[in-house]
Amino acid sequence: MSERKAALVTGAGRGIGRGIAMALANNQWGVVINYRSNEKKAFQTAHLIKDSGGTCIVLKADVSRLSEHRRLIEETVRHFGRLDLLVNNAGIAPRQRRDILETTANSYDKVMTVNLKGPFFLTQLVARKMIDLVEAGTVEAPKIINIGSISAYVSSPNRSEYCISKAGMSMMTMLYADRLAEHGIQVFEIRPGIIDTDMTSAAKEKYDRLIGEGLTSIRRWGTAEDVAGAVVAVVQGYLPFSTGEIINVDGGFHLRRL
Ligand SMILES: NC(=O)c1ccc[n+]([C@@H]2O[C@H](COP(=O)([O-])OP(=O)(O)OC[C@H]3O[C@@H](n4cnc5c(N)ncnc54)[C@H](O)[C@@H]3O)[C@@H](O)[C@H]2O)c1
Repeated sequence: MSERKAALVTGAGRGIGRGIAMALANNQWGVVINYRSNEKKAFQTAHLIKDSGGTCIVLKADVSRLSEHRRLIEETVRHFGRLDLLVNNAGIAPRQRRDILETTANSYDKVMTVNLKGPFFLTQLVARKMIDLVEAGTVEAPKIINIGSISAYVSSPNRSEYCISKAGMSMMTMLYADRLAEHGIQVFEIRPGIIDTDMTSAAKEKYDRLIGEGLTSIRRWGTAEDVAGAVVAVVQGYLPFSTGEIINVDGGFHLRRL
């Protein structure tokens, strides 16, 4: 059995996923960098990891295509001999922000399939594999981490499909946490606030202004490293009696303030 634990991080070519992959590799994890289409970015992540002495492989798969899940898992286990962590990070915003009264079925299906249906069924297959690996004594206390969003509880009627997908992912976390506890598999949601990535670049000025006005208690943008730090904290194993927890990484955005 390989001593190095193995993590599968979806959408790890850039942004938060890249930050998570790099942080895990820095902590001696073997990492699978999954990407959908931008091979160059995925290999950039791999180079960054390898340059700092880490171990990783790059695997192409579209998480919204259920038919691609099995290969992703099989290749991970073939390479590392184990699978200790799934990070459901890949996600998209609607291509166009449209008022809820104008949202199209196409945009709804697209966002829901990438952000919720894909991760739901990928998790199902990974969970079955993890159960087998636990029973075989190959891994101990594997974990699943879902990258949610403050949009799970904040209304943005101009991207309703995104909000619904993240609210769904929150329930998905609870359901798998409950079901998998008997197998020693913990499931967590990490809930980022406003994080400086390509996803938020289109609304940079708006968020600069809101943060400057005090929207968040900690008055700065979050970074991919902030989110990655939470992932590393969870996988250290110091939360053995917790599951289904939400870890807010939002500078205090969720606090009610007066
Ligand atoms: N940036 C933020 O402020 C913020 C806040 C809360 C939650 N999040 C969530 O964090 C996650 C990462 O977001 P980010 O800000 O790094 O965005 P990003 O757009 O920079 O990165 C997302 C990555 O996922 C990949 N991806 C998209 N669809 C995919 C698919 N079908 N299969 C495989 N990979 C796919 C993209 O190619 C990209 O590399 C997302 O789930 C997002 O919803 C982001």
